[in-house]
Amino acid sequence: MQSISVQSAQGQYDIHVGDALLQGVGAGVVKKIPKARVAMLVVDHAVEQTWAREVAASLAAAGLRLVTHVVVASEDNKSIAQVEKVWRCMLAERVQRSDVLCAMGGGIVGDMAAFAASTYMRGIATVMIPTTLLAMVDAAIGGKSAVNLPMASDAPDASVNSGGAKNSPQSLPTNLTNNVNNNLTKNVNNNLSNNLAKNMAGTICAPAWVVSDVRTLSTLSTREFRCGLAECVKHALLADEPMLSWLEKHREGLRAMDPARLVELVHRSASVKAAIVSRDEQEHGERAHLNLGHTFAHAIESLLHDQVHHGEAVSIGLVAMAAASQAAGWWPDADKFQLSKRLADLGLPIKVPTVVDRTQLKNAMKLDKKGQSGAIRLVLLKGLGRPGVLDAASEHVIHAGLDAIGA
Ligand SMILES: NC(=O)c1ccc[n+]([C@@H]2O[C@H](COP(=O)([O-])OP(=O)(O)OC[C@H]3O[C@@H](n4cnc5c(N)ncnc54)[C@H](O)[C@@H]3O)[C@@H](O)[C@H]2O)c1
Repeated sequence: MQSISVQSAQGQYDIHVGDALLQGVGAGVVKKIPKARVAMLVVDHAVEQTWAREVAASLAAAGLRLVTHVVVASEDNKSIAQVEKVWRCMLAERVQRSDVLCAMGGGIVGDMAAFAASTYMRGIATVMIPTTLLAMVDAAIGGKSAVNLPMASDAPDASVNSGGAKNSPQSLPTNLTNNVNNNLTKNVNNNLSNNLAKNMAGTICAPAWVVSDVRTLSTLSTREFRCGLAECVKHALLADEPMLSWLEKHREGLRAMDPARLVELVHRSASVKAAIVSRDEQEHGERAHLNLGHTFAHAIESLLHDQVHHGEAVSIGLVAMAAASQAAGWWPDADKFQLSKRLADLGLPIKVPTVVDRTQLKNAMKLDKKGQSGAIRLVLLKGLGRPGVLDAASEHVIHAGLDAIGA
């Protein structure tokens, strides 16, 4: 097992990375959060019948009363409506401030569940159990939680989409597996709200523990695994060339899901993020660098989230970032670095899959919370391992980025 220590205002916490960690979750929770009596397990539907069983058994064996709440992972479900379901569930089950919420799944379930935990009774302890590569190397680290909001033009729909009677406390089953409700809500949301303002409501609240068991990646689709690789590339660009070379050199071992390689990948990549958030938890400066390529990515995701997954948007966003960095004069020889080719070799997309209205895209970029007073703010590179923030990107720079991705 590999261990990474993260510093936060609420104290230090560990990230454990290994290939047989799930059975130890219960014992670890009891040790780290000794006053907890109830473990609220908010779990991604994709792992409910598989990996979550090991965690549930281990929590119960450690003497904790287990409450399980299942969530369908979709950006539409990364919503206040779903958070409210978790809150109501905890209230109905008399979850106390001293108890613990274990968020198990990909970044969507992790972000939404961590938001619910950080706001319920002004915050209860959270243990993150990421089950996607992207969540292991990125989303589960650093304490950021979030939900999406409907774009302003969709706002009237949001009131319809609150789920009404479906979400009422009376209709909540007390043993709390809400698959049916979640599926219904997902369908309703798909119909009503296509454009989402990503991560517009959230908190920064450090978890008590992060447990990354790479065995869980064996059930992940190739597409989702590649999404995680996009964030690994981002971390490599923020770190140094050796990390990118390592990624390229071990491509085959990673594709074959060699556990030792996976542990090394997660450990290396998570260490980059852990170091940054330890130095700047509240994003006063350096943490913003983790948004490399993300202003483009979030805008793409906002408009095309039914076609493009987060990691894919990040990959496309990194291509736009490299072109924008060159156009801004920050990274004059960016094209020689051939980032597009390197991403494509990892199986990642480098262009938008469909025609997008540029004005809409730029409006979504302006809405990205990293921008100040209507200007578009970009995190760009001055070279490998040399990120910086361009506060008000010119039209020339933005269009160079959009041209590069066929937008
Ligand atoms: N909080 C942060 O700092 C942070 C950082 C990066 C990304 N994010 C957020 O993370 C989200 C993306 O996360 P993601 O890429 O993990 O996507 P995701 O949560 O949508 O998971 C991808 C898919 O894999 C399924 N899945 C999860 N684990 C599985 C497993 N072990 N086996 C089989 N299927 C599995 C899920 O059900 C889902 O269908 C975005 O909403 C993004 O905004 C947050």
